Amino acid sequence: MPGIRGPSEYSQEPPRHPSLKVNAKEPFNAEPPRSALVSSYVTPVDLFYKRNHGPIPIVDHLQSYSVTLTGLIQNPTKLFIKDIRSLPKYNVTATLQCAGNRRTAMSKVRNVRGVGWDVSAIGNAVWGGAKLADVLELVGIPKLTASTYLGGRHVEFVSVDRCKEENGGPYKASIPLSQATNPEADVLLAYEMNGETLNRDHGFPLRVVVPGVIGARSVKWLDSINVIAEESQGFFMQKDYKMFPPSVNWDNINWSSRRPQMDFPVQSAICSVEDVQMVKPGKVSIKGYAVSGGGRGIERVDISLDGGKNWVEASRTQKPGKHYISEHNSSEKWAWVLFEATIDVSQTTEVIAKAVDSAANVQPENVESVWNLRGVLNTSWHRVLLRLGHSNL
Ligand code: MTE
Repeated sequence: MPGIRGPSEYSQEPPRHPSLKVNAKEPFNAEPPRSALVSSYVTPVDLFYKRNHGPIPIVDHLQSYSVTLTGLIQNPTKLFIKDIRSLPKYNVTATLQCAGNRRTAMSKVRNVRGVGWDVSAIGNAVWGGAKLADVLELVGIPKLTASTYLGGRHVEFVSVDRCKEENGGPYKASIPLSQATNPEADVLLAYEMNGETLNRDHGFPLRVVVPGVIGARSVKWLDSINVIAEESQGFFMQKDYKMFPPSVNWDNINWSSRRPQMDFPVQSAICSVEDVQMVKPGKVSIKGYAVSGGGRGIERVDISLDGGKNWVEASRTQKPGKHYISEHNSSEKWAWVLFEATIDVSQTTEVIAKAVDSAANVQPENVESVWNLRGVLNTSWHRVLLRLGHSNL
């Protein structure tokens, strides 16, 4: 592929922020300390979690880099970065969350396979780029199309990185054509993150951002876009990132029995304190994030100090100092809300957070009920233990 290449080893990885907690050496996967997540609504680029399945691609010559549009379309074509940049530019604030966020807590119930993550495999960024719906229009696919004349119903994104799960082949994933061609779904071919040129870790020079959907579908280092009849047959669509019931194990798993996970469920986590943390008696500020998939807003975040018998409602914001209203046109529907509640601690206390989205979906009470062998989608009530003692809080 001219202009960009996917190395087969890790000698040319980009530099990373020293405070990132490395969860696997090769490939590099890391998350920020949880306190960093609630210090700003928009997550700084260097503190944004990084999830890579292979070595980071290298761009040798940006001008020769192009994306091929092909498959079940009448006019296959190649688009250079200047062609993408010449389309109308949109800035979409969207939360990206790995399906494995909070996997470490799930692995405490029973062993799971996958990179261990605390609560920070998530971040909120302003993504800048062209709408995929506009790009597809260039190859003759009108807006709001579910099926092309030639039978295309899905849009596959193929990268240039080399992943061992794909036997050294590239990472790939797909979304339905109806979502790709819907301008309201805000699917982007992004070349900017928080107003800066996308960096190597996050997909330079071009990545897909699929708002409201698990991070695995937001393919980085884009090489081609293929309009296809069925979902992508790539490993990460067919043999990974699917939600199985707790009864399924590695002996009886039938991967084809489940659909690839797309929207993420309602989620929240407390980030201002660790589990376990020593605190002095008195007031403690409980801050965290809450988010739901599919563009659903956050209706409520509840905090309990007595195991879920009684709850108080936390305040929610997106723009600092401004109350957030779910589903209102002043709110950013693909982005998380930050919540805050002040509690009084006089004894050792378990603090619980639980969010409710605009469709009244609620986080499940126990991690046991959502346990699955790959450790994905741990959206159970988030709990932290505050122990009475000496602390700086
Ligand atoms: N795209 C490519 N090409 N290769 C990858 O390994 N990882 C996916 C997705 N896109 C991945 C990819 C996964 S699992 C997640 S959660 C997000 O990228 C992470 O994006 P980030 O590293 O920018 O936070």
